[in-house]
Amino acid sequence: MTIERFLTGITTSGTPHLGNYVGSIRPSVQASLRPGVQSFYFLADYHALIKIDDPARIQRSTLEIAASWLACGLDPDKVIFYRQSDIPEIPELTWFLSCVLGKGVLNRAHAYKAAVDKNTAAGSDPDSDVSVGLFMYPVLMGADILMFNAHKVPVGRDQVQHIEMARDMAASFNHRYGAHFTAPEAAIEDNVATLPGLDGRKMSKSYDNTIPLFAARAQLQKLIGSIVTDSKAHGEPKNVEGSALFQIYQAFASADEARTLQQAYLDGIAWGDAKQIVFERVDREIAPMRAAYEALLADPARIESILAAGAAKARAIATPFMVQLRHAVGLRDLRAQAAASVKTAKVALPLFKQYREKDGQFYFKLNSADGTLLLQSAAFASPKDAAHSIAALQQQGAAALATLAAQVVLAEGVSSAQVDGALQTLREAKAQAKSEKNNT
Ligand code: TRP
Repeated sequence: MTIERFLTGITTSGTPHLGNYVGSIRPSVQASLRPGVQSFYFLADYHALIKIDDPARIQRSTLEIAASWLACGLDPDKVIFYRQSDIPEIPELTWFLSCVLGKGVLNRAHAYKAAVDKNTAAGSDPDSDVSVGLFMYPVLMGADILMFNAHKVPVGRDQVQHIEMARDMAASFNHRYGAHFTAPEAAIEDNVATLPGLDGRKMSKSYDNTIPLFAARAQLQKLIGSIVTDSKAHGEPKNVEGSALFQIYQAFASADEARTLQQAYLDGIAWGDAKQIVFERVDREIAPMRAAYEALLADPARIESILAAGAAKARAIATPFMVQLRHAVGLRDLRAQAAASVKTAKVALPLFKQYREKDGQFYFKLNSADGTLLLQSAAFASPKDAAHSIAALQQQGAAALATLAAQVVLAEGVSSAQVDGALQTLREAKAQAKSEKNNT
């Protein structure tokens, strides 16, 4: 079975909320258990630096996000789970990719363009408050993906442009330096719900309407109690369409459970009672993971060692790949020059072939690099005699043809100059191989 590589990054800029759980953590953990899949999940802490300049918050968020994924069932033995900043090959690859990507592509990136548009509208300098980091965001992300030659990148729609840019970078690099990178594809999970937040808009930190994934039970109850509803009274039939409360319930409940609550809506359930049902259902799924989360938060050393093991697995891939890429672009050991030319010669070397015919006699022939016959020997009584003639040709080149006139004939249409050229190539290759051996 061919293994498909899935890779996704989680920016360490906040505390995971129910929307992250439903939209990303839960489906990713499930996907990682499928056979035929190798998953790379990582904490994108270099990306977090673009948005956040509070070191304590970066550290806290990294801890919370790592603990959340592990508590939600991510198995670090099955998945390569690592922290981006533990892989020094990623910033190195970022530089390689920035040298093959047109700046204009980055000018058109949505996030950068939005910042520029905002500045322009405000009459400020277009690049005001735009860091080079923000501008380069897609290149760093491309390096994340191409470093491991991921096939599929599960992301939200807002990230699709970044995946397209990664494909661009892969193509430009491959075009210049040979086929090193796989073109990644975005895997958009359209059937995964985007969860509404407390105010009914999409749950998002920027709207300040989130429910933290691991809020304590009492806080979870309070927050679910504060989800907006309309003002229909107890006994009045209620609509599930447009009900944020119902959508949150659906993300956790079975189809049967959802139908039951839908009926209760129609029957005029009081909002307070509906909220209690939703709270209990969400808490039923979260509670066991909450206990695991709290245990992990209390043991950061354990998380560190899990991430260190993940980084070792990731670097077992990244380090040799980077060696290959450095060589490809020409960042090379200067002594390796001779070896490189031998390699090119190797694929195109003429060849002596010795063989025995049915008549019991021994023969040889010389083929050119492309396999056409240059020279055919007469019969020899022993392999040693044949080898003797070959040695004379190898040492003297076409000059030996005169003395060997009785033993070898040129193939039809082949000149002695052609044979001489082939023999010369062989001698040079041999000399280079020898000097290479002495150098290493
Ligand atoms: N940009 C992604 C986000 O904001 C996070 C991320 C960083 C990422 N590197 C990645 C996602 C590589 C997928 C692949 O959600």
